[in-house]
Amino acid sequence: MEEKLSIAKEMLAKYGQEHVLNFYQELSKEEQNKMLDEILTMDFKQLETLYQSTKTKPNFENSKIEPIPYVAKADLTNEEMEKYAKIGKEAIKQGKLAVVTMAGGQGTRLGHSGPKGTYDIGLASHKSIFEILCDNLKQAKEKYHVDIPWYLMTSDENNADTIAFFEKNQYFGYPKSAVQFFIQGKLPMIDTNGKILLDENGMMKQAADGHGGVFEAMRRNGVLYNMKEKGIEWIFISGVDNILAKFVDPVFLGLQIEKNMQTASKSVVKAYAEEKVGVFCKRDGKPSVIEYSEISKELAEARDEKGRFLLGDANIVNHQFHINLLEKISVEKLPYHVAFKKANYKNEKGEMIEATEPNAYKFEAFLFDIFSYVPDMLVFRVKREEEFAPVKNATGKDSPETAKELYENFHHIQ
Ligand code: UD1
Repeated sequence: MEEKLSIAKEMLAKYGQEHVLNFYQELSKEEQNKMLDEILTMDFKQLETLYQSTKTKPNFENSKIEPIPYVAKADLTNEEMEKYAKIGKEAIKQGKLAVVTMAGGQGTRLGHSGPKGTYDIGLASHKSIFEILCDNLKQAKEKYHVDIPWYLMTSDENNADTIAFFEKNQYFGYPKSAVQFFIQGKLPMIDTNGKILLDENGMMKQAADGHGGVFEAMRRNGVLYNMKEKGIEWIFISGVDNILAKFVDPVFLGLQIEKNMQTASKSVVKAYAEEKVGVFCKRDGKPSVIEYSEISKELAEARDEKGRFLLGDANIVNHQFHINLLEKISVEKLPYHVAFKKANYKNEKGEMIEATEPNAYKFEAFLFDIFSYVPDMLVFRVKREEEFAPVKNATGKDSPETAKELYENFHHIQ
């Protein structure tokens, strides 16, 4: 341990982060060990680069941004629907589809203290979000007689609580053997001088590093290997917070197979200029998404000659990939995006400081940056009222109340 400590001190000194050990002596032996391991495995060089990146804004001005072609479900003929559904069903029945749910985030914006998926949005059945999502797989099991493997990405923060919830609820009646959890990566939060923040225990304050880390986490945790062994070819990945997400969609899958695309995503028409959604586009000829936190006002408001939004296809975090692409990407590092957030921390005097204004940088990789690795992708425009009921905020827009209404309307629940 002494040797570890001296190497850690050396590393911290090299990168001007000596304060990280300020409260080391107050930690338990176990915490001290954990802290040293965290320091020794930390990529400080990367952290330095990330800090430098906070000084520049994402710039789309030098890129050529254009709308992306899409296929609208509403435009498909009955024959086309049947044709794609047949292809998709075949692949599903042959056990080629797996589902990944990214549930690493906490329900902070919702005001819920546990994992977001454990939240009860107020349906008469009192089903949690996880149970609502699981219904997709239970229905598919009945229809296609396969146990579609379900992988859930959690974080250090919520992994234990998530598993305990599944155990308590007996996996909602879905076979436990088909469910697997894996933990996503994290990165320290830094202040405006590039210094790592400390949490209430005097440990480095770390935050989930965004869902762009999902591919690397799938490789690191043996998920990709496990999928390969099972003969999985197609992987549907979505967030935890859309209770109308359609995990198993034969038409979507069939269309993707028929078009021979390694990447496909669903979109809905953006409702209003400031809607908090990323929008699909082509950036310098490559498929891309511009996130709502990074788009300029002009671009968010821009209209085409028919008066529709120029970039009108909103990302609903419903993506489907071929496993070969994920294997390739899982060894790459997707770029990190910067968010300036409020973060409580322990100062050098050992006092806890409550942040009232944003004071810290958080770094997140975005899954959709994978699109720059493919020459083309399928954007499948679906109907909002059929597939998008986000649960993001405690009240108002995209809240449990609005999601519940959308869910009940879709399922004809009075
Ligand atoms: C997200 C999309 C946005 C889209 C909108 C639709 C991204 C970066 N943003 O915005 O383009 O239009 O949803 O509702 O995709 N997650 C993790 N680990 C993380 C971060 C997120 O598992 O480290 C999960 C969350 O639990 C959630 C999903 O990813 O299920 C979306 O992440 P969130 O950060 O909430 O994105 P939004 O800002 O809502």
